[in-house]
Amino acid sequence: MKFRSIKGTYDVLPNISDKWKNVEFYIHQYLSRAGYSEIRTPIFENTDLFKRSVGEDSDVVSKEMYSWIDQGGTDLTLKPEYTASVVRAYIQNNLNSISPISKLYYIGDLFRRERPQKGRYRQFRQFGIEAIGSKYSEQDAEIISIAWNIISELGIQDITLNLNSIGSSETRKKYKQVLIEYLKPNFDQLSESSKKRFNSNPLRILDTKNKSEIEILKQVPKITEYLSKEDEVHFNEVQQRLDDLNIPFSLDTNLVRGLDYYTRTTFEIVSSKLGAQDALCGGGRYDKLVESLGAKSTPAVGFAAGFERILLAMDNDNELVEKNIKKIYLIGLGDKVRSTMTKILGQIRNEGFYIEFDPLRRSIKSQLRESNKLGSSITIILGEKEMEEQCVQIKDLSNGNQQSVPFDSIISYLKSLK
Ligand code: HAM
Repeated sequence: MKFRSIKGTYDVLPNISDKWKNVEFYIHQYLSRAGYSEIRTPIFENTDLFKRSVGEDSDVVSKEMYSWIDQGGTDLTLKPEYTASVVRAYIQNNLNSISPISKLYYIGDLFRRERPQKGRYRQFRQFGIEAIGSKYSEQDAEIISIAWNIISELGIQDITLNLNSIGSSETRKKYKQVLIEYLKPNFDQLSESSKKRFNSNPLRILDTKNKSEIEILKQVPKITEYLSKEDEVHFNEVQQRLDDLNIPFSLDTNLVRGLDYYTRTTFEIVSSKLGAQDALCGGGRYDKLVESLGAKSTPAVGFAAGFERILLAMDNDNELVEKNIKKIYLIGLGDKVRSTMTKILGQIRNEGFYIEFDPLRRSIKSQLRESNKLGSSITIILGEKEMEEQCVQIKDLSNGNQQSVPFDSIISYLKSLK
């Protein structure tokens, strides 16, 4: 074949697109119920937006962005993450003038030129939320609990919430020196990428997956020991709020996250089902980002979850939304029924039921097989005998009951089964 999809991208084919749709539908519903409103931002932005917010030293900006100079000489980048773009939109559209708290969510595609592997793609999808306006611990806890609850309610088990506080920039400045001193005697054993980060961004070394570096870091002083009084109070409160919400967590003082804008709370939810790419979601507080992009200082906190990883970790297929939906399969037999069958199909569909029919004019046996394959819970049969009697046979497959129902009572009968 001459053309194939680009490495690290994939097609969502009909056999799984239902699952995608169901999960997305569920997320829209859940977040709307929590009072979050959807925001959609352009698929590309100015490259400087990401350099300024995510940080030039981060892997995302230094190695992974799809950037190009367009015909007008503007440096553009396909969005590698949402937070910067959402904050840009928040500032540009003065969302702070509408409400002192902006509760926003998104679902969409992002682009990072990472090495593709299971759970890691070059075009991937995230859903996430950003709450811009509150500095209080209740807001951190709400964000974390929404991530936890959505993931749990999707039926994903074996998940762990890792939590940390990286404090203010002063804390990190102090801690950076401590870390450099600690790592200095082992400098030669560090990987090339850690050596590069040693002076510029040694905190990122804490994130390492390299076994010998993990060994070196075993006795490393904890960043939480360097928190200011205010940061510590905030962190304790976040933990208390999570206890209030019955959300279990583990403290992980090496959890610094790979994007530069974080302050105070950082967290990730990981799944033991996923192998190397085990982070289902990540997030935290970013109290300085709005200000650093040129607006009045405004605290904020959010998270984003990888859509593909969520789907990979879900055991059950379509259970989520499908369990509440009765699928109806309409079986028409013989030429005389075509017109009436089309009318009945239209009426039932207009009432909001899930209904399918056989457009291939197959035998009753094949149609019953198809109905079964689709997992229908109701079949409606319309043959020539039914035409004469102006009725259909409705079979409830959950209990085997079959009933002859006059044409003008089909809708009310189906509603009684709902
Ligand atoms: P992130 O940790 O870079 O954070 O990404 C969040 C999640 O997106 C990851 O935990 C993972 O599930 C998924 N993800 C990231 N890269 C890939 C990839 N190449 N392929 C598949 N999935 C991937 C952020 O993006 C922050 N903006 C999160 C945030 C929101 N912080 C505050 N608000």
